[in-house]
Amino acid sequence: MTVTALIVAAGKGERAGGDVPKQYRLIGGKAVLRWAVESLIGHPAVQSTRVVIGQGQQELAAVALDGLDVGTPIEGGTERSDSVRAGLAQVEGDAVLVHDAARPFCPSAVIDRLLASLEFHEGAAPVLPVGDTLARVGDSLDELVDRRGMVRVQTPQAFRLDRLRAAYDRWSGPPPTDETTVVRAAGMKVAGVEGDPALEKLTLPRDFERAEQWLAGRLSPRTGMGFDVHAFAGEGPLMLGGIEVPHIRGLAGHSDADVVLHAITDALLGAAGLGDIGDHFPPSDLRWKGADSSLFLAHAIGLLRARGAIIDHVDCTIVAEAPKIGPHRQAMRARIAEIAGLSMDQVSIKATTTEGLGFTGRREGIAAQAVASIRMEHLK
Ligand code: CTP
Ligand code: MG
Repeated sequence: MTVTALIVAAGKGERAGGDVPKQYRLIGGKAVLRWAVESLIGHPAVQSTRVVIGQGQQELAAVALDGLDVGTPIEGGTERSDSVRAGLAQVEGDAVLVHDAARPFCPSAVIDRLLASLEFHEGAAPVLPVGDTLARVGDSLDELVDRRGMVRVQTPQAFRLDRLRAAYDRWSGPPPTDETTVVRAAGMKVAGVEGDPALEKLTLPRDFERAEQWLAGRLSPRTGMGFDVHAFAGEGPLMLGGIEVPHIRGLAGHSDADVVLHAITDALLGAAGLGDIGDHFPPSDLRWKGADSSLFLAHAIGLLRARGAIIDHVDCTIVAEAPKIGPHRQAMRARIAEIAGLSMDQVSIKATTTEGLGFTGRREGIAAQAVASIRMEHLK
């Protein structure tokens, strides 16, 4: 059975408010739409994935979907059901998973259950029981609604593509809010499989807070360390911690030889398990000759944020007899915070001498040692 995922993202997100429609807002540094697409595209049974977007949302979508294999976004319509129809007209395959972009986290076990159930039914949808008391409401609470046998219906919803198309062709009611409504109206059977609280839809502003918290709960603390040494050579000033520090001697290096930024960059890459600075910026590459090391740090930060990592703190010890670091410490913290998009209290700079011992004691060079504390989801 070939399965296509169809993600509808053409809404305006009016109830959620915000500067951009909710599907383009970031959660954990990643667009809601991207989370939704990634949770389906990564499932082994899903062969292809398409996205339906709103008029004028091409640029937002291009950024959110950068690098994902979803073809050209399909243009949706006024109502959600118009967007689904537009998508159904363009997808292929035996089965389709129709999913709301506004539900960013889809556990793969839900997809397993849906597709297993589709073997025996024309459609399947994830459902959750209703835990609260249900009542109709007018001016005040009205009639009690018996919640027994009631469920809440989520997406993704799985259908045989031809059956869903046929059901939509026959639908003549007001715009339906999901596909089970359409398929059942056409007299077909839709199975309910166990849904998941992670699939809760983002509808109101407060739902974003809940989603951020849910995501933060899945992150584990991780620590990385970095170490770097550069030899003195030539005349100063020297670059340390992203600022120019007056000194009679400079530091030798392929780039600007900023040991502090190099150690911190390595600590961050280490915390995320992303190799080291040499992997990302090989000294053999002429592009990095004399390079401003803030580029390296900013690049590492970008990689971590793209993985949804939260950077909690970086701490660096500079090992040098001279120059004196104390007078420059706050300026270094401020500059590093600026490059990394952190606040100053998330950046610590310390300094020590080695009491005249070793290469730093002999004033042959400067060493820096850093640790980075981050939180990140374990990659499966
Ligand atoms: N949707 C769509 N086309 C529309 C309306 C909605 O593709 N014309 C999509 C939304 O982008 C969302 C899903 O359908 O992923 C569920 O709809 P809803 O939560 O109502 O989103 P919005 O319509 O964007 O929000 P609102 O109703 O608050 O404006
Ligand atoms: Mg809507």
